[in-house]
Amino acid sequence: MIIKSICCIGAGYVGGPTMSVIAHENPHIKVTVVDVNSDRIASWNSDDLTKLPIFEPGLDVIVHKARGRNLFFSTDIDQAIDEAEMIFISVNTPTKTYGAGKGMAADLQYIELCARQIAKVSTSDKIVVEKSTLPVKTAEAIKDILDNTGNGIHFEILSNPEFLAEGTAVQDLIDPDRVLIGGAETKSGQEAIDVLAKIYASWVPEHKIIKTNLWSSELSKLTANAFLAQRVSSINALTELCEATGANITEVANAIGSDSRIGPKFLNASVGFGGSCFQKDILNLVYICKSLGFHQAADYWEQVILINNHQRTRFANQIVKALYGTVADKKIAFFGWAFKKNTNDTRESAAIYIADKLMDEQAHIQVYDPKVTALQMQSDLNHLNSRSETKNSKYLTTHTDPYAAAVGAHALIIITEWDEFKTYDWQKIYNTMSKPAFIFDGRNLLNRSAIESIGFTYTGVGQ
Ligand code: NAD
Ligand code: UDX
Repeated sequence: MIIKSICCIGAGYVGGPTMSVIAHENPHIKVTVVDVNSDRIASWNSDDLTKLPIFEPGLDVIVHKARGRNLFFSTDIDQAIDEAEMIFISVNTPTKTYGAGKGMAADLQYIELCARQIAKVSTSDKIVVEKSTLPVKTAEAIKDILDNTGNGIHFEILSNPEFLAEGTAVQDLIDPDRVLIGGAETKSGQEAIDVLAKIYASWVPEHKIIKTNLWSSELSKLTANAFLAQRVSSINALTELCEATGANITEVANAIGSDSRIGPKFLNASVGFGGSCFQKDILNLVYICKSLGFHQAADYWEQVILINNHQRTRFANQIVKALYGTVADKKIAFFGWAFKKNTNDTRESAAIYIADKLMDEQAHIQVYDPKVTALQMQSDLNHLNSRSETKNSKYLTTHTDPYAAAVGAHALIIITEWDEFKTYDWQKIYNTMSKPAFIFDGRNLLNRSAIESIGFTYTGVGQ
């Protein structure tokens, strides 16, 4: 079977870039990305490519080439489902905020809605692909819904989790470390795996396409994220010790990472990991372990989250302590709000937690981020603990010019590792700040001695 028409439900950070690359590399396949959010779809269809809803380096070029040729963004979900031979489910699976498993389990309501809609609308056989990150065994529930509420047609379920990282999504999609496809251990399951593998084989070398059963594929995604986050928490768990002893975390990370068994990547000490995946997926893993009675394994993975929470709190406390125990009515500049560089995504960014803590101490926060809008920052703070808007508008100001954000500040905090921060005129920034001027570098981005020679008091992470 050769697929001619694909539908992807969910035009977010995964659905948008993933389908753009699949369409770009397979001009013979019509790819329609649908979403309930009509504003988002309108942005994907915008003639002005700087208005795409997601900022990812290189994405505009890919969208420009494929959109209108074989890549379409639409709100007509039913039509796209019915027309497609293969349907990717790429909707959000956030942590539950209610009921059983609140604060830990994945909220699968959007997944179930998709399954029910696919079942209702479909009039021909379909391959349904889980692209969202899901708890192990979710394919069983999806199959159950499809088979029991559908129109008697055949649905084959595949798991094809996405491993792209934001900020490098296009590069990760074009040259992935691997593509993982899980399917049922039946003849039709294996055939479906091969059909999807053929789509990827248009540009991914076959040896990078891993084929497994459904449950291995679902579980591998959760655990890959847990391993990555664990590395960040492992290095961050050493930062206090470095600060107390005179060891330098960058030197330690370099020494550790030189061991080829460990490797140098993902050992950058930081103010704490953010993003929509790490915390959510580990909490989900912990919940699954707990539900099955595997309490030791659950506790083990939960520590990765606890260290991350500790790192954010510790950083905020360090700032207050250094500023003579009070930040009330002081101005504090934030450089960066996104959870990492080269993205406009702010989900779970350390910035939100640290700003909130400092606002509780009545500090005035002045933020500059190259890609995050003022509206997004306000909304992030409002969402946290259902914070009142009045408090945020009193304590938060946002700037489109970094130099303006620093004026009058007692301290400047680097939250995101945007490359442009390294190129700034730091003498000019120093001149406009209140003295003594402090820098808290949550990414160890700046050159310490150069910054100190200007007159700043510099604090990095773990050094
Ligand atoms: P997102 O919130 O950016 O996008 C999800 C989209 O789905 C939203 O636009 C929403 O409106 C839409 N949606 C929800 N329910 C719908 C429905 N019933 N019909 C149509 N549209 C619907 O989320 P995301 O970051 O793209 O993540 C999607 C999934 O991919 C999650 O499971 C996530 O864990 C996983 N994932 C994310 C990343 C990442 O870097 N963001 C990487 C790998 C995997
Ligand atoms: C992650 C996974 O990397 C990706 O494979 C998966 O598909 C989705 O989740 P993402 O969250 O987009 O991707 O970015 P990632 O590069 O993993 O960074 C996550 C967080 O960890 C960021 O806040 C980043 O700044 C932080 N981090 C990363 C560190 O603090 N130190 C590091 O050494 C690496």
